[in-house]
Amino acid sequence: MTVGDSRSSALSPPPTGRSGPDHREVHHAESPGGRGHREVHHDESPGGRDHREVHRAGQDIDVPRAPVPLLRVEHVTKRFGGIRAVGDVTFTVGRGESVGLVGPNGAGKTTLFNCICGQLRPDAGQVTLDGTLLDGLPTYKRARLGVGRTYQRAEVFPDMTVGEHLIVAERARHGGPHLWRDLCHRSAPTPAERRRVAEVLELVGIPGWEDRPVSSLGLGSCRLVELARALANEPVLLLADEPSSGLDARETHELAAVLRTLQRERGMALLLVEHDLSMVEAAVDRAIVMDLGVVIATGTFDQVMADPAVRIAYLGMGA
Ligand SMILES: Nc1ncnc2c1ncn2[C@@H]1O[C@H](COP(=O)(O)OP(=O)(O)OP(=O)(O)O)[C@@H](O)[C@H]1O
Ligand SMILES: [Mg+2]
Repeated sequence: MTVGDSRSSALSPPPTGRSGPDHREVHHAESPGGRGHREVHHDESPGGRDHREVHRAGQDIDVPRAPVPLLRVEHVTKRFGGIRAVGDVTFTVGRGESVGLVGPNGAGKTTLFNCICGQLRPDAGQVTLDGTLLDGLPTYKRARLGVGRTYQRAEVFPDMTVGEHLIVAERARHGGPHLWRDLCHRSAPTPAERRRVAEVLELVGIPGWEDRPVSSLGLGSCRLVELARALANEPVLLLADEPSSGLDARETHELAAVLRTLQRERGMALLLVEHDLSMVEAAVDRAIVMDLGVVIATGTFDQVMADPAVRIAYLGMGA
């Protein structure tokens, strides 16, 4: 079942009128470097600088070095026919860092997510996670390496219960020999699996929902089930594509708090695509702004929102 549509979000920025075909043609006539990438400010990951021991002339010397990024997206480009959906995008996400990826409709955010998670193969560029090249790996292998994802349109199965969604995710992660049987016949969960499911449901604010059929849930609840399923894999990096879509203001606020907790207490890195700017502000350390396939600004939330290029591109207003 596919539910939800980001474009219906009440808190979406006003339409910019910039995504029509005419504008797209102008964009693709430009060279990749034609649009300035405005580097407002670039934070390092929140863990600060670490140190390494360097052996030199028999001595241990403590030399500071920059933190190694968890996710490294380098010069990624993806075209659909004549449309350059993502053009030469480069950025990093540090271990345990929370980064917002924002921009108007059609900016290329979901396409970039698909390139990172393996649903799409980029035409150029590469993606590494903790130094491991992801290019060419199927999505399930990326998931086992620690890349979790929720979708712009929540992907849930109406004939399953909430608990079954999480059990399947848990078993898929471990990839045991009985996975196919488990998926088809849903063998009874073990006590350990039940405990794990209960923990995750508690974490996302829906404790005790194990036996509820997903078909009985509203859109907002389906989003929480999808998030719980992603978290059941204990990702080191969660890519969340408009998770507040379909949630009301209170649920959105609570979801931002859950994501912050996961980041701060469990060290999970987050790449958050979101049109609800109040959620972005509450949930991220740093924001990356895309427009028409390219990064136009990076910095803290306040810095990028004050940037004239962002105000024009994303909010449709002048400086
Ligand atoms: N499968 C596809 N085939 C052709 N064009 C596509 C495809 N997927 C995306 N596009 C185009 O690529 C561009 C980027 O789309 P994408 O969905 O990545 O943007 P987005 O930033 O996620 O937008 P939104 O905020 O509306 O979700 C758009 O012009 C879109 O029409
Ligand atoms: Mg999208």
